[in-house]
Amino acid sequence: MSEPIVIAIDGPSASGKSTNAKIIAAALSYAYVDTGAMYRTLAWHALRQGVDTTDAEAIAALCHDWPAGLVNCEGSIWLEVDGYFPETEIRTKETSAAVSHVAAVSFVRDWMKERQRSCVQFGNLVMEGRDIGSNIFPETPHKFYMDAAAAVRQARRDADGVQDNLAARDERDSTRAASPLKVAKGATIINNAGETPEETSARIMDLVRAARD
Ligand code: DC
Repeated sequence: MSEPIVIAIDGPSASGKSTNAKIIAAALSYAYVDTGAMYRTLAWHALRQGVDTTDAEAIAALCHDWPAGLVNCEGSIWLEVDGYFPETEIRTKETSAAVSHVAAVSFVRDWMKERQRSCVQFGNLVMEGRDIGSNIFPETPHKFYMDAAAAVRQARRDADGVQDNLAARDERDSTRAASPLKVAKGATIINNAGETPEETSARIMDLVRAARD
């Protein structure tokens, strides 16, 4: 059997990763993996347990003992905690403020890498995040880095009514020591300002198709 195909989509917050990754996954019948949701689920769990999310050692210990497992729910892969996926809770202001601290802990990154690589058990993937092309699946030929100006991205979040300090989060995500956000070697940069998601995702699928021909 041939190796599963992985389309890696990285980029800063509100750059359009999720919207495009979902369109592409549905169009190609690939499984969709939102790795940011996995970090958010750990941040939510830490907040619920009263663990200080800026204490790297405490977060590593919490992650070490975390009984979270991968689940495929109608083509979306996520981490469930005691059989529960906190879909709404992981988008709150509190979780958004805590998540980039949790994501900077190197034990957490290693733990996530093992789970994220094992998602190929579900078949071909569209996986979005910050380090998918640079660290999780560096071997995939299908790497994309989505971008748009900071003001455009903040305006998208504001329009969604989501309170999220993107600038602070992006700064932490790009400057951390452990697999920071960066353009992966060989990635195609996709600036989607002024494009509809349908146009952007069609452009990405054309590039994937051309690389596979
Ligand atoms: O994509 P998002 O905004 O839901 O991601 C939440 C946070 O998780 C983001 O601030 C950075 C972190 N993250 C990461 O460090 N690596 C990933 N592959 C995905 C997300």
